Amino acid sequence: MRYIAPAIAMILAACTADLPQEQAARTISPILTSEEARDEFTFARPTEARVTHIALDLALDFEAQSVFGTATLDVDAADGVDRIVLDSDGLQVAGVTDGLGNVLEWDMGEPVEGKGEPLTIELGEMTGPGLQQVVVAYTSAPEAEALQWLAPEQTAGGKHPFLFSQGQAILNRTWIPTQDSPGIRQTWEARITAPEPLTVVMSGIGQGEPQAVREGEDTRAFTFRMDKPVAPYLIAIAAGDIVHRDLGPRTGVWAEPQMIDAAAEELADTEAMVDAAESLYGEYRWGRYDMIVLPPSFPYGGMENPVMTFLTPTFIAGDRSNTGLIAHELAHSWSGNLVTYASWRDGWLNEGVTSYIESRISEKVFGETRAAQERALSFAQIETMLEDEGADSPLTAMRTPEGTSPFDTAGAAIYDKGAVFLHTVESIVGREKFDAWLTRWFDAHAFEPATSEMFLADMRKNLIQGDQELEDRLMLDEWVYGAGLPDNVARPDPQVFAAVDAAAIAYADDRMLDAAAWRDWSGAEQQRFMSRLPEQIGKAELARLDSTLGLSETGNNEVLFLWLKLALANRYDPAVPVAREFLSGVGRNKFVQPLFETLTEQGEWGMAIARPLYEKTRPGYHSYTRGQVDPLFGVEG
Ligand code: BES
Ligand code: ZN
Repeated sequence: MRYIAPAIAMILAACTADLPQEQAARTISPILTSEEARDEFTFARPTEARVTHIALDLALDFEAQSVFGTATLDVDAADGVDRIVLDSDGLQVAGVTDGLGNVLEWDMGEPVEGKGEPLTIELGEMTGPGLQQVVVAYTSAPEAEALQWLAPEQTAGGKHPFLFSQGQAILNRTWIPTQDSPGIRQTWEARITAPEPLTVVMSGIGQGEPQAVREGEDTRAFTFRMDKPVAPYLIAIAAGDIVHRDLGPRTGVWAEPQMIDAAAEELADTEAMVDAAESLYGEYRWGRYDMIVLPPSFPYGGMENPVMTFLTPTFIAGDRSNTGLIAHELAHSWSGNLVTYASWRDGWLNEGVTSYIESRISEKVFGETRAAQERALSFAQIETMLEDEGADSPLTAMRTPEGTSPFDTAGAAIYDKGAVFLHTVESIVGREKFDAWLTRWFDAHAFEPATSEMFLADMRKNLIQGDQELEDRLMLDEWVYGAGLPDNVARPDPQVFAAVDAAAIAYADDRMLDAAAWRDWSGAEQQRFMSRLPEQIGKAELARLDSTLGLSETGNNEVLFLWLKLALANRYDPAVPVAREFLSGVGRNKFVQPLFETLTEQGEWGMAIARPLYEKTRPGYHSYTRGQVDPLFGVEG
């Protein structure tokens, strides 16, 4: 009954007034006020007034490519505060009322580069239920960056449109008027209407079967709830012609009917992964773990939306070799979703800790060899970063410099160095002690924001406990705030790739290739081999490499990507049609950006391919991928 649309607010006013208890009982998660927790990318002033709960009532308009309806926000305001500031980015606001339907004054401020604009709402008397709500009636802009509206041709089925959102980092303000900062956790609920036969899923628990909106109409309403306070970037939606398949008692996958068999087959280890993660870090606290395999324009490999991980279809290789991605997104159920960085500058607290847990899950489910290989691949990313940036570059520090875009937090300093940091601490204090400490960290800060400072302080208090020798050995501050790799780094065992590295050397020295060995290699081994090949290879040799190893036909997109990058860097014409086809369907930025970059580095040869190709493929990419590739062509964002 807390769900109040403005048109019926007056009618409901009487019953709302009878329901103060539920509101009073809601727990309001704390706001961190330390300088380290400050989020420079929000307009919100949460110590004055903050959103605690969002109720969305939205219609999906595929023709206009917008969502429209209302967001009813529960507001908690400090004494004497008479306004609340929300984040917006292109929202068209039609009007604002309180929960009783009284009109509230509002003002949309001037846009600020990279942040959107502040939506300031004058609060009325905050003295009772209904009065502590603001109801924003609005429409999202067709260019709302969080939302990608796909034409039927961009789906596997080809018949129906598709919609998905990507909120992280600061994109949800393009479709939800709220305080869009990871430290301002909010519970939420939603009622979403969509035309048949589309099914809507969200990063909350579905509440029963969809309901026909009106007799004889082909619009259905789907309802969802998230009762745990989450960072607002974790509110996510997808809608399409999709079906669900159970994978285990609490795990399942959504996909288009054409994809569901392959998806379920690839994801068969998911329930075992949840069990493994629980055995390491305690109860999985979100209820269900479902995933959705999206159309290939999804700009990331995966996104850890609670109870509904969003996935690229490009991880499907037919042999489950890329399912480290699932371990990663699942791990965020602890590191990122349960305990969340308060500011974007602590990206490693989400992504580095998650990459470490990913490795631990991988070890439990797939064994030590695969986990060790994945660790070695990850470590090679750090080495590449140090070569590119220099070991003393501030860009190699885990806590990123002020002003770093929240979208530039996908690098090796955060993911791979963050993971190696925890592997290092583990190797020094011992696995048992470290696992107990990390589990306790998640318990103690469940559903709360955190900072680097808090993480290190907790380690000192509960792990180091005044042991000065241990403190010195761990080098905590050097790891988190310093550049490069501290001396105590626990390097992964290079022996795991001994055979592959020997094969790469044999190729570099004598152009020797062993097709049978290649076929037997794991996905990680094939990737290692590809990344160790000489940078310059002649055309005849590339042809032999391709035909001997079957690279153009590989079902593993990670391997295909490495092959295309190598081939394009050597201006190898026969690879161009394959690259064209790949880039025409796939919008995953990790593949798209480097391939276009490689082409643009190849002078006229590459530019003549890249320019018309990007002109054709650009409209099919998500705004994030467009934003990463545009600068290569001098296109302003
Ligand atoms: N949460 C990230 C994606 C992200 C990070 C989006 C920062 C926006 C800002 C997600 O969990 C992720 O890390 N995805 C990786 C997975 C890989 C490391 C296994 C990806 O998409 O490549
Ligand atoms: Zn991640």
